[in-house]
Amino acid sequence: MIVMRQKLVLSVSGKGGVGKTSITTLLVRTLMKHTNHSLLIVDADPVMNLPKTLGVKVEQTVGDAATQLRKDIDAGAVGGQVSKQDVLEGEVFDALVEDDRFDFLAMGRTEGEGCYCYVNRILSQILDTIARNYDITIMDMSAGLEHLSRRTTRDVDVLIIVIDPSSMAFDAAIRIRDLAKEVQIDFKQIFVIANRFPPSLIEEVSEDLERRLSEEGLKLVGFVPTDDELTVINLRGKPLLDLPDSSPAVKAVEAIAKKMGLLGDSTFLELLRPTT
Ligand SMILES: Nc1ncnc2c1ncn2[C@@H]1O[C@H](COP(=O)(O)OP(=O)(O)OP(=O)(O)O)[C@@H](O)[C@H]1O
Ligand SMILES: [Mg+2]
Repeated sequence: MIVMRQKLVLSVSGKGGVGKTSITTLLVRTLMKHTNHSLLIVDADPVMNLPKTLGVKVEQTVGDAATQLRKDIDAGAVGGQVSKQDVLEGEVFDALVEDDRFDFLAMGRTEGEGCYCYVNRILSQILDTIARNYDITIMDMSAGLEHLSRRTTRDVDVLIIVIDPSSMAFDAAIRIRDLAKEVQIDFKQIFVIANRFPPSLIEEVSEDLERRLSEEGLKLVGFVPTDDELTVINLRGKPLLDLPDSSPAVKAVEAIAKKMGLLGDSTFLELLRPTT
């Protein structure tokens, strides 16, 4: 029997500064190295740190395209034969950066002035359509919670929540879980990644943290230690993809990706079985 590989949409959320962009980049690194999955990486944070950590150049964002469309609509320049959807779809495809091993899309600022709900609605439909062309779509989200209600795409299969060693990050994880349910994001799994924990602390706190998260219905998939090599690479403004295989953060994220069922020839069927 041939089992079709499912498409998977992962979204990386969490409190500000906990390491969402770093973890997203390290997940991309692992997937590039250990799988043949086709990858779409979406920077859904208007601050756009991901191009730097991935080492890609962005000429145009999806937000730029949406802003132009809003202006054209106001000027009465869109109509007739070409639908708004077609115009925007063309622009979004133009914004797609094609790298050797992944495609990249920067959302930029998608909120214009006034209510252009239909532009945003078309946008999320277009993104859903584009995402279907890839085995895995990974979205690096902004720190605020508003993005969850203004969904970038309609469906998220796996919600990854990153926490750091702080009770604020833990509380934010609970709020993100609640809000995601409230706005009915159709996720199948939520995983928590504990990032930037001092290596000497991990063993001591791991059991307690896992239990407290589990009491909230959240599954801890692993720890990523504070990594000096990552700090140095960041300080020098180099892409995190350049980290060596021996880097502790790289190794930790590899183990986490394996535990989540993302590596090898996975069909993602286990992952997509709803548990919520
Ligand atoms: N495991 C780690 N070891 C050392 N430094 C780390 C680690 N993870 C993240 N950092 C550093 O912490 C800072 C914040 O990381 P990052 O930008 O990935 O967080 P973020 O959650 O995406 O932030 P924002 O909310 O601003 O988008 C960066 O300077 C990054 O280099
Ligand atoms: Mg970030």
